[in-house]
Amino acid sequence: MESLEIIESRLLLEAIYKCYGYDFRSYTLDGMQSRLQSIVKRENLQSISCMIPLLLHDQSFFNKLLKNLLVTVTDFFRAPLSYKALKQTVIPVLSTYPYINVWCAGCATGEEAYSIAILLKEAGLLKRTQIYATDINDKSLAVGKSGIYPLNKLDISSQNYLLAGGETDFSKYYMTKYNAFMMNKELRERILFSKHNLVSDGAFAEMHLVLCRNVCIYFNDKLQVDVFHLLHRSLIRNGYLFMGMNERMDYEPFTSLFKLIAESDCVYKKQESDVIKMYSN
Ligand SMILES: C[S@@+](CC[C@H](N)C(=O)[O-])C[C@H]1O[C@@H](n2cnc3c(N)ncnc32)[C@H](O)[C@@H]1O
Repeated sequence: MESLEIIESRLLLEAIYKCYGYDFRSYTLDGMQSRLQSIVKRENLQSISCMIPLLLHDQSFFNKLLKNLLVTVTDFFRAPLSYKALKQTVIPVLSTYPYINVWCAGCATGEEAYSIAILLKEAGLLKRTQIYATDINDKSLAVGKSGIYPLNKLDISSQNYLLAGGETDFSKYYMTKYNAFMMNKELRERILFSKHNLVSDGAFAEMHLVLCRNVCIYFNDKLQVDVFHLLHRSLIRNGYLFMGMNERMDYEPFTSLFKLIAESDCVYKKQESDVIKMYSN
């Protein structure tokens, strides 16, 4: 028998889906529940189910709920050593293509997209690159599009940049104004921010590199499998996938779809084989 709390959570996620079209029904319930419980406490409510009438009748309550359900934590060059591995293993291969398509899936507020833009700029490849940065959170996408970040992010960003193998100084890539810094136009104009839902929207085409970091950890097993296939379909033959540092991708069907690049913890190469045909049928 499911606990009352789980039943309430499922009903709430169903209400969100029916009323607003956001489908969180295949996210891991453990994580969802702890985020829902903290909202219950903060809003001084009796239970998770008390939020159902509120969200059904008040869009502003839903917007607040959405903001708290989606984890938007990110950084420039987050897990910098994995960017270093990407720089050493993938960038030289990307340099052999006449044009380069990159997709940042679940980009949050865009720091990841700017990080990869900087790596490509330092390799002399930015001018022939198009970066697509997508998320389901409109507010996060608006921040990414503006390219404006609070000054208190600068220290960690500059440190991460150097640890990732940055070749000059992070300060070369932004201008400060009042209490914020804005990424250079040269980087901003290479990134297209748009809304895309990994649960319900289609694959991108002909991507040379896909970043999908710290996103699948929120999905249940079935949804993860669907998303792995979506990412696989989005890549060109021999394309690369960059996952999060703490995502352990050593289970099927992931291992049949992608092969870990030896020198790294989270850079994978698309596999083409009969095994995949078997899985996608
Ligand atoms: C923890 S952040 C990761 C940000 C960045 N990739 C990183 O590793 O720093 C997770 C992001 O996934 C996004 N997300 C969650 N579900 C999604 C979905 N179904 N489709 C697209 N993005 C989603 C969230 O809005 C959030 O911005």
